[in-house]
Order: sequence, then C-alpha cells, then structure tokens
Amino acid sequence: MNNKKLNNIVLVGFMGTGKSTIAKALAGKTGKQYISIDGLIEDREQQKISDIFKEKGEPYFRKVEKQIVKEVMTAKDQIVDAGGGVVLDSENVDVLKKNGTVVCLWSDPGVILERTEKYSHRPLLAVSDPESRIKELLDQRRSFYEKADFHVDTTDGNIDRAVREIEKIKEYEQKVT
Ligand code: S3P
Repeated sequence: MNNKKLNNIVLVGFMGTGKSTIAKALAGKTGKQYISIDGLIEDREQQKISDIFKEKGEPYFRKVEKQIVKEVMTAKDQIVDAGGGVVLDSENVDVLKKNGTVVCLWSDPGVILERTEKYSHRPLLAVSDPESRIKELLDQRRSFYEKADFHVDTTDGNIDRAVREIEKIKEYEQKVT
C-alpha cells in the first residue's frame, strides 16, 4: 500500500458527473468510509449549500470547503466525494493529491445538463441558460480538472463500470508505487 496516500480515493469532477453515486458504490464495495465534503460543509454551517451561497457568498463557501478538505485528508481509508469546484484552489489540489488518489470524473456537457436539470440544489446552475453556463464553466475549469491523477469518463452512466475502472486504477497504483 502507498502509505503516503493514506489509502484514500478522492473523486473530483464537474457537477453531474456522478461523483456521489460512484463514491457511495465504491465505499460499499471496498468497505471504506464514504465522506461528502459538501455534506460536512452543510453540517458545520447548519445550512444547505444553496443558502450558504445566497446568504454568505461563494468566497465564504470556498473558505469553509478548504478548511474541511484539510481536516478530512488527515484520515485514511476514505472515499471522498468532493464538490465540483474544489480543484479551483491549488492548495486543495495539493492536499488531496498528497493524501489520496485523485480521480476526476468526466461527462459530456449534454449529459451533465440532463442530470443536473432534475435537481435544484446547485446554485451555480440556477440560471436562465444552464446549458451555456455548463459549457462556460467546463471551459474555465478544464485545466484544473486535468491536474487529477486519473480520469474516468462517466458519460454512459454505467456506475458498475466506473467503479471497476477506479478499483483497477487503485490496483495499478499500488503495483507501481
Ligand atoms: C460546486 C459543486 C457542488 C457544490 C457547490 C459548488 C461547483 O458540488 O460544492 O454547489 O463549484 O462546481 P457537486 O459537484 O457535488 O454538485
């Protein structure tokens, strides 16, 4: 085992790429603990993410997110479900990569639109033209998501395949480190 990585797997990627579903499935399969950074932010602030954005603003949300990332990444044997914007802060990326294997999920914009349209809890997509917003944010963030250790395409929505692919990544990493 690569001790430096504390046996953590961190899922990053844009909203609607399946991070939560896949992280929960991976946790179930591996027996590791499922950790949601967004969930911990809501617990700490006693507020929904959309209300934090509305009442305290995005910079405040990012500050809490950064603090939680630091705290979470001191523990081991976790499947960490990180919010879509966590990679925008390079110190977050450093902490996540130092203490975990960072896997970025990627899906085509059209599929992201379909998946995110069903839910209203994402403040960044609560705009009149979410399709353009998704494309704009994906373009802005592409270079940040590229910093992940590995990438998995989840456009087809096949959870089992994505889980198997991530397990293989972990096996490969343990062999080469
Ligand atoms: C965000 C993604 C959300 C949440 C917040 C900001 C982003 O998490 O952290 O609304 O900047 O992409 P999910 O990716 O889990 O929806």
